[in-house]
Amino acid sequence: MMAILWLLSLSLPTLGAHVLISCAYKSLCQLSLLSGNDVVLQCDHPRALWYFSSILEEDTLLLSSMPNIKKLPGGGLQLTNPQPSQTGLYSCQDNDNALVVEYEIDFQDVTNLHITHKDLGQKPLQNETLDLGGRVLMFTHWEPWQDCNRCGEPGERKRLGYCYIQEEPLEKPLPCRLYLGQEKVESRLMQPELQVESCLVPCNPIKEINQPYFIFDSYQLSKLTNSMWLTCPLASIYR
Ligand SMILES: *[C@@H]1O[C@H](CO)[C@@H](O)[C@H](O)[C@H]1NC(C)=O
Repeated sequence: MMAILWLLSLSLPTLGAHVLISCAYKSLCQLSLLSGNDVVLQCDHPRALWYFSSILEEDTLLLSSMPNIKKLPGGGLQLTNPQPSQTGLYSCQDNDNALVVEYEIDFQDVTNLHITHKDLGQKPLQNETLDLGGRVLMFTHWEPWQDCNRCGEPGERKRLGYCYIQEEPLEKPLPCRLYLGQEKVESRLMQPELQVESCLVPCNPIKEINQPYFIFDSYQLSKLTNSMWLTCPLASIYR
């Protein structure tokens, strides 16, 4: 008997265990996501053709038979357990090869997630400036805090952050790998972050609590594994 144990935590709107990503017709959306977490890229065209160009290689591939990628009947593309190596441009075209929608996605490595608890004095990663011919700012771009996991008593809330690079203060920042392409950079900031803090909110029976989850590790337990020691990275003095 094999059992898979998922270690779960927060994140985004989901369809089953999939995060749904959408983008306006004929637009390019650039975003960062966590590797290891299933996503569906939406493309509203029943006979969609999907192409992929990796950030690490020059080739453009017609996506039809990659083991962890599946085209859905409505036109969407389902990526199961996407890897950082699958960072790149996903382009959806109609059967006349006209662009329907494009996604440029930086799958940041969830196995390197940097976890800190604000109220235990743990500091998130600090901004850095890099010299890449010109100076650029590398920083963690935070998503909004999730809702508190308890009400009427002390609880915790979380937020996710991704590595971004910005050239000038007023320019739009880009996910690090999309900015860097194949360029190698040694920096601790080249990883996603999770921050936890304590919270105390009154109960509001009308409000729906928004605590989506993400997977940051999974273990397969088998007969060969007699016993296993699991340490929960989010275990805390508040629970
Ligand atoms: C890091 O840079 C971002 C983007 O410019 C900025 O919003 C943030 O306040 C900076 N953080 C610190 C601690 O300077």
